[in-house]
Amino acid sequence: AEDGYELWLRYRPLQGPALVQLQAGAKSIVRTGADSPTLQAAVAELKRGVAGLTGREPALTSRIAPGALVLATAASAPAGLALPWAELGAEGYALRRLKLQGADVTVIAANSDIGLLYGSYAWLRAAQTGADLASLDQRSAPKVKLRMLNHWDNLDRHVERGYSGASIWDWWKLPEILDARYTDYARANASLGINGTVLNNVNSKADSLTGPWLAKAAALAGVFRPYGIKVYLSARFSAPVELGGLKKSDPLDPAVRAWWRAKADEIYKTIPDFGGFLVKANSEGQPGPQDYGRNHADGANMLAEALAPHGGVVLWRAFVYAPEAKDRAAQAFDEFQPLDGKFAPNVIVQVKNGAIDFQPREPFHPLFGATPKTPLALELQITKEYLGFATHLVYMGPLFEEVLKADTGRGGTVARVVDGSLARHPLTAVAGVANIGTDRNWSGSQFDQANWYAYGRMAWDPDLTAAAIARDWAAQTFSTRPAARDAIVDLMLASREAVVDYMTPLGLHHLMGTGHHYGPAPWVDNLERADWNPTYFHRAAKDGIGFDRTAKGSNAVAQYAPSVARLWADPRSTPPELLLWFHRLPWDHAMPSGRTLWAELVARYDRGVATVADMRRRWAALGPHIDAGRHAEVSAYLAQQEREARWWRDACIAYFQSVSGLSLPAGARPPE
Ligand code: GCU
Repeated sequence: AEDGYELWLRYRPLQGPALVQLQAGAKSIVRTGADSPTLQAAVAELKRGVAGLTGREPALTSRIAPGALVLATAASAPAGLALPWAELGAEGYALRRLKLQGADVTVIAANSDIGLLYGSYAWLRAAQTGADLASLDQRSAPKVKLRMLNHWDNLDRHVERGYSGASIWDWWKLPEILDARYTDYARANASLGINGTVLNNVNSKADSLTGPWLAKAAALAGVFRPYGIKVYLSARFSAPVELGGLKKSDPLDPAVRAWWRAKADEIYKTIPDFGGFLVKANSEGQPGPQDYGRNHADGANMLAEALAPHGGVVLWRAFVYAPEAKDRAAQAFDEFQPLDGKFAPNVIVQVKNGAIDFQPREPFHPLFGATPKTPLALELQITKEYLGFATHLVYMGPLFEEVLKADTGRGGTVARVVDGSLARHPLTAVAGVANIGTDRNWSGSQFDQANWYAYGRMAWDPDLTAAAIARDWAAQTFSTRPAARDAIVDLMLASREAVVDYMTPLGLHHLMGTGHHYGPAPWVDNLERADWNPTYFHRAAKDGIGFDRTAKGSNAVAQYAPSVARLWADPRSTPPELLLWFHRLPWDHAMPSGRTLWAELVARYDRGVATVADMRRRWAALGPHIDAGRHAEVSAYLAQQEREARWWRDACIAYFQSVSGLSLPAGARPPE
């Protein structure tokens, strides 16, 4: 039975014209250049894919013949092959059907072997999704340099915010035993273009930087190398004290700097192509430079200095907030924006998509566009910490797209900040907090695979649409039949707004239960830190609801570019989707729909529940098109999601009634 292990690389037999076309276009594989582990991976994947899709494995030859798949780099290109090589860059590829030496062939072309691997996956995707292979002409190069996964995996294999089993890194058996999963992990990531992985949690243990653990990381790096994936580690800022026996970790102390330089030298001896460090410092109790009265730039630059001779980078996180802050949403900007221009060239500041914490909806983080001298990495969370874990079906493509396409008002969108084009930064990065674990289906649910997939595709090309990506994924993962594929895509595209509606509509945020962040708990007001309380975020009372971030309140809105701040400072020009993020308003505030705020809030909660019920009906109708095992699994999850959408709606509405004293608007359904 299907269990989802193969992800989107399933290669099930094609039928009809698509099969005939593929048989004609993949009779043999021709490798023109010298062999390499990366080319072997490309050839193996092409063989596996074509064998699965057509029932016949193409042979590897050196003879160009009709129907061949020709792998060619600029350096090894056969005579007569003219392509826009320069536009492909170091990692890009071209796929083209053409005549070569009199033969009708398909060329997969790139400037490097890794480009050929990416091109091979792209060609297989075209074959799997039913593209017209007879007229194929595609070209693509990544717009972002470092396309990373961040694993929040602890050394004891527990995954922080992981909902799909244990960590796939089997530390006890490493470095000797190499689980076949590591190769499949590399294949899946290479098929998307992901080229970096941080193995351990940002809440890191210093141990991960010691010899035995470095040997384990090196073994993984060895598996990933042919697939173009570099290994990174989260570094604990206090490691010089914990491991080195130094008195402090002050970044300006020469002994501390020397310790990190020696540590970097040791790491690169073990892992010659080590990517660098990810650092969470002075955030949620983690050690950092501020412990010594220094700032983030002092800390990041010290590590950058140690890595620079080896070509490594520092990804320094901007997720900071302190209990004393007037508004948690404002602190990262206040700490980091003034440091613009102070960071070393091999430092990237890694910023979450929004200023609170991976909510179903947040406005884009105000740092984007506000630090022209500092490259910023966009950190997205693929694992659904605040969106119903792996149980709720939420396709996050629209969330990622919404952030990337947001206009910062500072000369371009978030995508243009992140891809470096706005401020001409050569060093660019995107990071996704992984949703990968030991579950057979990797991600805890069949549909959560789509979030890994969408993240990877957008990391490569931030201008792709969530809809186009969903179409590819659904065709590769479930069905190439247009009717079935499109029904799956519709359901996916509706799912993100549904979760916003039934959890936190109209700009509400962080109403989730304490610690676990799963169900509703808007009533909680007694946590040890005020800025963890849901009541801190929604501020509902008899007279109204919402967080005032205008000049009358925390004034966090002023951190945005003037053109954006002007819109969002006024409730009349703030989109309803962000209304209560920026404004505290009376319950009878008039909404554009003609309803009062209270009636609108209830209507949105209702709409969220109705959408999930509709998703469930649509999935049920897909039964004949989907294998029984996966269909039943998704159905069971959707049933739970519908129950829990009602739970969210009823709990939140009842709680808001208890503080406002309002009764349900006419026509609203009473809670069940
Ligand atoms: C969230 C999450 C933590 C995580 C933190 C981070 O607060 O709940 O588990 O450590 O983000 O991003 O560092």
